[in-house]
Amino acid sequence: MNYEEVTFEDFMSLPSGERKRILNDPDLLKLLVKKKLNPSRYSHSLSVASLCRELAVCHHVDPEKAYLAGLLHDVCKGLEKTNITFLEDYLRYYDHDKLNGIYGAYHAWSARYYLKEMLNFHDKDILNAIYNHTICNSRDKLSLILYIADKREPLRGIKDDIIKIARKDLYQAFKILSWDVEKYIREVKNERFIENRI
Ligand SMILES: [Fe+2]
Repeated sequence: MNYEEVTFEDFMSLPSGERKRILNDPDLLKLLVKKKLNPSRYSHSLSVASLCRELAVCHHVDPEKAYLAGLLHDVCKGLEKTNITFLEDYLRYYDHDKLNGIYGAYHAWSARYYLKEMLNFHDKDILNAIYNHTICNSRDKLSLILYIADKREPLRGIKDDIIKIARKDLYQAFKILSWDVEKYIREVKNERFIENRI
């Protein structure tokens, strides 16, 4: 099988053995994600995945699960600009209360359902972390790790102490970051569209 050619769209038509193989091999999964995202979004996802793994080791969370959460967290990103209807359809069907106009979070909320449908991916911890990676209402360690890594992966070029704090205390780092995010959402909430800053 040429794994380079497999896309999200035809994944479910593969034999179940091949599907399992891809889902259990981060290198094969990377090929799939690479085709889904633009190059900078893909680089961001790899960078988030590596930082997730590092923070997971510090906090006794399964590092490979953390890596996958980072790798997959943005698979629906970009659609809020090009095809908001696609994301809205997922939310309308599965999660109606989230059709609340906070467009910057739609890719996170709908990714939970998209990954289940397109990849038959059902790891609850990873899906929960992805669901909460822009507006975090979860306090489990994996969710906090992904939330922090998404906002402070090195390619963002933000120099502060958040990662240093997060290595010792995830919740403290999360609290500092979430103040910024909430302020941002409050300020732009009435906009029809939230730019990709979170
Ligand atoms: Fe992200």
